[in-house]
Amino acid sequence: MKNFKRTTITSALPYANGPVHIGHLAGVYVPADIYARYLRLKGEEVVFIGGSDEHGVPVTIRAQKEGISTQQVVDRYHKIIKDSFEEFGISFDIYSRTTSDIHHKLASDFFRTLYDKGEFVEKTSEQYYDEEAKQFLADRYIVGECPRCHAQGAYGDQCEKCGSTLSPEELINPVSKLSGAKPVKKPTKHWFLPLNKHQDWLKNWILENHKEWRPNVYGQCKSWLDMDLLPRAVTRDLDWGIPVPVEGAEGKVLYVWFDAPIGYISNTKELCDNNPKYGNWEKWWKDPETRLVHFIGKDNIVFHCIVFPAMLKAEGSYILPDNVPSNEFLNLEGDKISTSRNWAVWLNEYLVDFPGKQDVLRYVLTANAPETKDNDFTWKDFQARNNNELVAIFGNFVNRTLVLTQKYFDGKVPACGELTDYDKETLKEFADLKSVVENLLDNFKFRDAQKEAMNLARIGNKYLADTEPWKLAKTDMERVKTILNVSLQITANLAIAFEPFLPFSAKKLRTMIAREEFSWNELGKFDLLAEGHQLGKAELLFEKIEDAPIEAQINRLQKIKEDNEKQNYQPEAVKNTVDFDTFEKIDIRVGTILECERVPKSEKLLKFKIDDGMGGRTILSGIAKSYPEPEKLVGKQVCFVANFAPRKMMGTESQGMIMSAVDADGRLVVVSPSEKVTSGVCVG
Ligand code: MF3
Ligand code: ZN
Repeated sequence: MKNFKRTTITSALPYANGPVHIGHLAGVYVPADIYARYLRLKGEEVVFIGGSDEHGVPVTIRAQKEGISTQQVVDRYHKIIKDSFEEFGISFDIYSRTTSDIHHKLASDFFRTLYDKGEFVEKTSEQYYDEEAKQFLADRYIVGECPRCHAQGAYGDQCEKCGSTLSPEELINPVSKLSGAKPVKKPTKHWFLPLNKHQDWLKNWILENHKEWRPNVYGQCKSWLDMDLLPRAVTRDLDWGIPVPVEGAEGKVLYVWFDAPIGYISNTKELCDNNPKYGNWEKWWKDPETRLVHFIGKDNIVFHCIVFPAMLKAEGSYILPDNVPSNEFLNLEGDKISTSRNWAVWLNEYLVDFPGKQDVLRYVLTANAPETKDNDFTWKDFQARNNNELVAIFGNFVNRTLVLTQKYFDGKVPACGELTDYDKETLKEFADLKSVVENLLDNFKFRDAQKEAMNLARIGNKYLADTEPWKLAKTDMERVKTILNVSLQITANLAIAFEPFLPFSAKKLRTMIAREEFSWNELGKFDLLAEGHQLGKAELLFEKIEDAPIEAQINRLQKIKEDNEKQNYQPEAVKNTVDFDTFEKIDIRVGTILECERVPKSEKLLKFKIDDGMGGRTILSGIAKSYPEPEKLVGKQVCFVANFAPRKMMGTESQGMIMSAVDADGRLVVVSPSEKVTSGVCVG
């Protein structure tokens, strides 16, 4: 690996159009933060840059939905997002925003430089225009019928019903979302970055020289670079954004994906301008001895590996990223996280339900990080990892060590006597893991790195369980001293090893052992706490999470799912027409339920005894899952098909069919007359 002098770490700028959720945290911000903390702990020169992406159509749509101005939207969500990151310990050196003056100027100058160098091509093309609103329409502002699945309300860039990617031209009967008018085509001029001109060096740079990038990143780049790249428009007809600094470009702004990555640079500049200790901003972006690393989610790969590098290269004075560790997506309880469907765990809400448990979420998200494939977050797993790993291993070891030291030695570090072979083995095993953790962190394998850190705690936990100092206390106090000394040194080591992953707990642990900051280089040393050093108060590092709060979360999601299914219900296509004679053949009647019970050994079947006015009959119906308490149906009336051919199921003959409505969420509901009628009467 090339030797760099310093590292510039960026994390994707989230759109300021909503709060951030666990998917953002797992995909981008926790890994970036682990990396930044790790490098700082090693004493390296680092900046960690964040900020809100406040331009683009996503924020203007949000403003329209909420009926407030775009500026109000970005002000609101910038604050919410910034606060969430702070609360979760994401240790940005700066978290700024793309509406800042510094950014507007820098992005505008950047465009102008490329323009003056002749790096753009100008093209006029036909775009949809709303004559009532007097505006060109962004793809999202055009809705119509999906050409694939024929759902109404598909957007100009995507149909949310069937998931197809669309272009506005494909929509059937397009209308403007702004005014409802039928849009017309009108010519408009835009500036394009000719990616085709950059294809050759991009191919060489990534496909030949960055084979070490994650397979998902490399693979996506390869599939792009194997095709012919096309010029990409970097301006838009929109009234929200950074004006195009060219004469004759009134009413046009920079495309959000042009200005947003420049936000990394402007935010670095803002940081350096205000804090001399960071030096000149240019060294973070223009010195070839600076390593640039972008943390992003997989939907951002092409912009960070192809478009932004092409912009930087075209400008000419910037360095290119050394790595772009992109994650795949995190799902929630088996379904894709979605803001519009409210299928998410929002960070601000998590903290209300689990106050003080930032590290638990950080831990679980890293343990399940979608580094190589999409992964799933479930509340059961969250609970299990907290209870079985954080509490039972890490917390338990630390607590026993500190409580025993308090009990036998008044909280003072006892002297270390002669080490047994077992002690030495334990320490060796521990020291060996250090380089393993480092290697994983250096290669952006945070999930495995955290696993190994937890293995360090496991070693400690096993050591205590094997040596049982509480039993030796009556017979061999010298040995107890050594055991606890070793355990305390391991404890101090854990405070270092977990600092990048669980900063709040590491800090708490340092308070408990009364130690200031450590450096990473002290990891693997066993003289971190001197004999006689007075420890602080022992507290629980983690606490058990009971079933009730977990069930509350699961129920909340279940409720959201049901609501969504109902909202999105699309009636099935109507079956072929039947004439009266055909209809008449079906004998539908009303019966009164006399008995209703589950059929033993069947998950689905309920057995009904029905008063049909003709002496009664037995009907089996596959609705047990919808009626967990079948006895409650007794006394109700239901419609049933009286001339349905009898069938034998699970040893019983079913004489008819109970009629049920299938609700949008799949639940079955028996159909009854709206008022009580005589048993056995016909329905028709
Ligand atoms: N706002 C974009 C998103 O949420 C990410 C922008 S990253 C940057 O997908 F490079 F443009 F800053
Ligand atoms: Zn569709």
